[in-house]
Amino acid sequence: MKKIAVLPGDGIGPEVMREAIKVLDAAQRRFGFSLSYEYADVGGCAIDHHGHALPQATLELCRNSDAILFGSVGGPKWESLPPEQQPERAALLPLRKTFGLFCNLRPAKVFPSLAGASPLHPDIVGEGFDLLVVRELTGDIYFGQPKGREGSGPEEKAYDTMVYTRREIERIARRAFEAARLRRHLVTSVDKANVLTTMVLWREVVKEVAADYPDVTLNHIYVDNAAMQLIRNPHQFDVLLCGNMFGDIISDECAMMTGSMGLLASASLNEEGFGLYEPAGGSAPDIAGQGIANPIAQILSAAMMLRYSFQLGEAADAIENAVGRTLAAGTYTIDVAIDKSQAVNTEAMGNAIAAAL
Ligand code: NAD
Ligand code: IPM
Ligand code: MN
Repeated sequence: MKKIAVLPGDGIGPEVMREAIKVLDAAQRRFGFSLSYEYADVGGCAIDHHGHALPQATLELCRNSDAILFGSVGGPKWESLPPEQQPERAALLPLRKTFGLFCNLRPAKVFPSLAGASPLHPDIVGEGFDLLVVRELTGDIYFGQPKGREGSGPEEKAYDTMVYTRREIERIARRAFEAARLRRHLVTSVDKANVLTTMVLWREVVKEVAADYPDVTLNHIYVDNAAMQLIRNPHQFDVLLCGNMFGDIISDECAMMTGSMGLLASASLNEEGFGLYEPAGGSAPDIAGQGIANPIAQILSAAMMLRYSFQLGEAADAIENAVGRTLAAGTYTIDVAIDKSQAVNTEAMGNAIAAAL
């Protein structure tokens, strides 16, 4: 029996989490494995109920679980709190750091039936759009010290520090090359080595690591050009290796290229193979409470959990397949529906995927 810490969080988090659990239940019945779920508050709802975005009990539950299934945190209600108390900085980033979840995998793939939902012309995004963002998740300007504010008046200043160590770059680069070996053998490293010293080291170390993977082609690209090339000709990419901040930005772009922010799943893994699984998108305050969010990113994150934490590749494949067949049968949520009048709600989407499984 595998124990999952289920942290739905805020906004659409609980809405899409319900559907992911439904699909996991259907997968257990079909494949005969068993999971136990333990729920805990995280983010804004945890501030409201317990006074802290990451209560000790939630952290303990995560420590005693085999994997973490995470929804999303944050929203307008908590944006006026001091920054270090807000859900993103007080819960999500500490969870990533505490468990050493340095390796964030964000696979962006166009479902053939959704090619028309991408804002890009089908000739550009096509049916074959399939890439993997490998994002470093515990370093960079997110965590570098010093970080702070001082002074007042016109000279008041604020600063964050972009920093990477050789070790941090090397271990994420290895993950990217290993992933490319299971794909099209191409890594494109995204940096800003023309301006940032951190990124000069990044490029050097990535080149050194590449020597151990002679069967994988390595290219380097500046992040501004990468953002442009992605919408010009995405087929030139396979694995995009990014630092924390550039990977954050590039992955939202990739999500939308597949048709919606609500499609992009992610796995965040540490050196021991422990993982947190969450949609790349957020709590979507603009649609929260309406029951219309797309649950697919959460459902595919649950499939990634089966694959990476529990070696249940067959069940993960079956979930991905069920999602594809449900979309192909013409069942969509409103974010990806061409004919909005035909869209179904979150619950019906989850039911359809569970039934397809
Ligand atoms: P967002 O990803 O929440 O929303 C951006 C846009 O994408 C919105 O229009 C939203 O409706 C849409 N969208 C996102 N997920 C969707 C889904 N499943 N189905 C349909 N549409 C979807 O980004 P934001 O608006 O910048 O952030 C909102 C809040 O979420 C902020 O507090 C932010 O810090 C937080 N956030 C949390 C996480 C996380 O917990 N992992 C990730 C990103 C943002
Ligand atoms: C993501 C989110 C987070 C990030 C925020 C909410 C801290 O945008 O997971 O992509 O920037 O990493
Ligand atoms: Mn993001």
